[in-house]
Amino acid sequence: MLTDQFAQVFRGEHRTLRDAFLDIMSAFQRRDTTALAHLIHRAIVCAGPHCRYEEEALYPALPQFFEPDYIEILLIDHDWMIGVMKQLHVFSKQAQLTDDDVHLAVRLARSMLLHISDCEGLSIMVEQLSPPVVQSILDARAWSLNEGLDLLQWAEHVRGRPYLSPQAV
Ligand SMILES: [Fe+2]
Ligand SMILES: [Fe+2]
Repeated sequence: MLTDQFAQVFRGEHRTLRDAFLDIMSAFQRRDTTALAHLIHRAIVCAGPHCRYEEEALYPALPQFFEPDYIEILLIDHDWMIGVMKQLHVFSKQAQLTDDDVHLAVRLARSMLLHISDCEGLSIMVEQLSPPVVQSILDARAWSLNEGLDLLQWAEHVRGRPYLSPQAV
Protein backbone atom coordinates (compact mmCIF):
# COMPACT_ATOMS: atom_id res chain seq x y z
CA MET A 1 0.00 0.00 0.00
CA LEU A 2 1.10 3.52 -0.77
CA THR A 3 0.80 4.73 2.84
CA ASP A 4 2.94 1.77 4.01
CA GLN A 5 5.56 2.67 1.42
CA PHE A 6 5.49 6.26 2.63
CA ALA A 7 5.68 5.25 6.31
CA GLN A 8 8.67 3.04 5.60
CA VAL A 9 10.78 5.65 3.82
CA PHE A 10 9.69 8.38 6.24
CA ARG A 11 10.68 6.24 9.25
CA GLY A 12 13.99 5.37 7.60
CA GLU A 13 14.89 9.04 7.13
CA HIS A 14 13.92 9.95 10.69
CA ARG A 15 15.97 7.00 11.94
CA THR A 16 19.02 8.23 9.98
CA LEU A 17 18.57 11.73 11.44
CA ARG A 18 17.96 10.41 14.97
CA ASP A 19 21.12 8.31 14.85
CA ALA A 20 23.14 11.15 13.30
CA PHE A 21 22.15 13.54 16.10
CA LEU A 22 22.81 10.96 18.83
CA ASP A 23 26.23 10.30 17.27
CA ILE A 24 26.86 14.07 16.96
CA MET A 25 26.12 14.48 20.68
CA SER A 26 28.62 11.81 21.64
CA ALA A 27 31.25 13.06 19.14
CA PHE A 28 31.03 16.54 20.70
CA GLN A 29 31.41 14.99 24.15
CA ARG A 30 34.55 13.18 22.90
CA ARG A 31 35.67 16.36 21.04
CA ASP A 32 36.13 14.11 18.01
CA THR A 33 36.23 16.74 15.25
CA THR A 34 37.07 14.20 12.52
CA ALA A 35 33.92 12.24 13.27
CA LEU A 36 31.91 15.47 13.64
CA ALA A 37 32.69 16.67 10.12
CA HIS A 38 31.46 13.35 8.71
CA LEU A 39 28.37 13.16 10.97
CA ILE A 40 27.27 16.74 10.34
CA HIS A 41 27.68 16.19 6.61
CA ARG A 42 25.52 13.05 6.88
CA ALA A 43 22.83 14.96 8.79
CA ILE A 44 22.59 17.92 6.40
CA VAL A 45 22.62 15.67 3.30
CA CYS A 46 19.69 13.66 4.70
CA ALA A 47 17.81 16.64 6.18
CA GLY A 48 17.92 18.76 3.00
CA PRO A 49 15.68 16.70 0.70
CA HIS A 50 13.66 15.44 3.68
CA CYS A 51 12.67 18.87 5.00
CA ARG A 52 12.21 20.10 1.45
CA TYR A 53 9.56 17.56 0.46
CA GLU A 54 7.90 17.98 3.83
CA GLU A 55 7.54 21.71 3.25
CA GLU A 56 6.64 21.44 -0.44
CA ALA A 57 4.17 18.55 -0.24
CA LEU A 58 3.58 16.98 3.17
CA TYR A 59 2.93 19.97 5.42
CA PRO A 60 0.62 21.63 2.85
CA ALA A 61 -1.50 18.43 2.93
CA LEU A 62 -2.08 18.65 6.70
CA PRO A 63 -4.40 21.66 7.25
CA GLN A 64 -7.42 19.35 7.13
CA PHE A 65 -6.16 17.85 10.42
CA PHE A 66 -4.41 20.68 12.24
CA GLU A 67 -4.81 24.36 13.02
CA PRO A 68 -2.57 26.67 10.92
CA ASP A 69 -0.60 27.44 14.10
CA TYR A 70 0.63 23.85 14.26
CA ILE A 71 1.77 23.88 10.62
CA GLU A 72 3.67 27.08 11.44
CA ILE A 73 5.29 25.33 14.43
CA LEU A 74 6.51 22.57 12.11
CA LEU A 75 8.05 25.23 9.85
CA ILE A 76 9.61 27.05 12.81
CA ASP A 77 11.13 23.70 13.87
CA HIS A 78 12.85 23.65 10.45
CA ASP A 79 13.95 27.30 10.87
CA TRP A 80 15.55 26.18 14.13
CA MET A 81 17.09 23.04 12.61
CA ILE A 82 18.82 25.12 9.92
CA GLY A 83 20.19 27.59 12.48
CA VAL A 84 21.37 24.77 14.74
CA MET A 85 23.11 22.92 11.90
CA LYS A 86 24.91 26.11 10.88
CA GLN A 87 26.11 26.57 14.46
CA LEU A 88 27.14 22.91 14.87
CA HIS A 89 29.04 23.19 11.59
CA VAL A 90 30.90 26.24 12.95
CA PHE A 91 31.73 24.38 16.19
CA SER A 92 33.01 21.37 14.24
CA LYS A 93 35.50 23.61 12.38
CA GLN A 94 36.92 25.19 15.54
CA ALA A 95 40.48 24.22 16.42
CA GLN A 96 39.50 24.04 20.10
CA LEU A 97 36.18 23.40 21.80
CA THR A 98 35.69 24.85 25.28
CA ASP A 99 33.53 23.11 27.87
CA ASP A 100 30.85 25.75 27.22
CA ASP A 101 31.00 25.06 23.46
CA VAL A 102 30.55 21.32 24.06
CA HIS A 103 27.72 21.89 26.53
CA LEU A 104 25.86 24.16 24.09
CA ALA A 105 26.53 21.90 21.08
CA VAL A 106 25.14 18.86 22.89
CA ARG A 107 22.05 20.79 23.97
CA LEU A 108 21.49 22.04 20.41
CA ALA A 109 21.92 18.56 18.93
CA ARG A 110 19.55 17.14 21.54
CA SER A 111 16.94 19.77 20.62
CA MET A 112 16.85 18.24 17.11
CA LEU A 113 15.40 15.03 18.50
CA LEU A 114 12.12 16.77 19.42
CA HIS A 115 11.16 17.60 15.86
CA ILE A 116 12.31 14.22 14.57
CA SER A 117 10.04 12.53 17.07
CA ASP A 118 7.09 14.91 16.43
CA CYS A 119 7.52 14.67 12.67
CA GLU A 120 7.56 10.86 12.70
CA GLY A 121 4.11 11.00 14.32
CA LEU A 122 2.70 12.62 11.15
CA SER A 123 2.79 9.19 9.50
CA ILE A 124 -0.43 8.30 11.26
CA MET A 125 -2.18 11.28 9.69
CA VAL A 126 -0.77 10.48 6.24
CA GLU A 127 -2.73 7.20 6.45
CA GLN A 128 -5.86 9.36 6.14
CA LEU A 129 -4.75 11.18 2.99
CA SER A 130 -6.05 10.12 -0.42
CA PRO A 131 -3.74 7.96 -2.60
CA PRO A 132 -3.11 10.80 -5.13
CA VAL A 133 -1.99 13.12 -2.31
CA VAL A 134 0.30 10.45 -0.82
CA GLN A 135 1.68 9.85 -4.31
CA SER A 136 2.34 13.59 -4.72
CA ILE A 137 4.35 13.54 -1.46
CA LEU A 138 6.37 10.55 -2.69
CA ASP A 139 6.91 12.34 -6.02
CA ALA A 140 8.13 15.46 -4.19
CA ARG A 141 10.46 13.22 -2.19
CA ALA A 142 11.85 11.71 -5.41
CA TRP A 143 12.62 15.06 -7.05
CA SER A 144 13.99 16.53 -3.82
CA LEU A 145 16.39 13.59 -3.55
CA ASN A 146 17.21 13.93 -7.23
CA GLU A 147 18.09 17.63 -6.87
CA GLY A 148 20.10 16.65 -3.80
CA LEU A 149 20.48 20.04 -2.12
CA ASP A 150 21.72 19.63 1.43
CA LEU A 151 19.90 21.45 4.24
CA LEU A 152 22.15 24.52 4.16
CA GLN A 153 22.17 24.82 0.35
CA TRP A 154 18.38 24.51 0.24
CA ALA A 155 17.97 27.05 3.05
CA GLU A 156 20.26 29.54 1.35
CA HIS A 157 19.17 29.25 -2.28
CA VAL A 158 15.61 27.93 -2.42
CA ARG A 159 13.63 27.94 0.79
CA GLY A 160 12.71 31.60 1.18
CA ARG A 161 12.23 31.65 4.97
CA PRO A 162 14.71 33.06 7.48
CA TYR A 163 16.33 30.54 9.79
CA LEU A 164 16.51 30.89 13.58
CA SER A 165 20.02 31.43 14.88
CA PRO A 166 20.75 29.87 18.29
CA GLN A 167 22.91 32.95 18.99
CA ALA A 168 19.82 35.17 18.72
CA VAL A 169 17.78 33.10 21.19
FE1 LIG B 1 10.20 18.11 9.48
FE1 LIG C 1 10.54 14.82 9.18
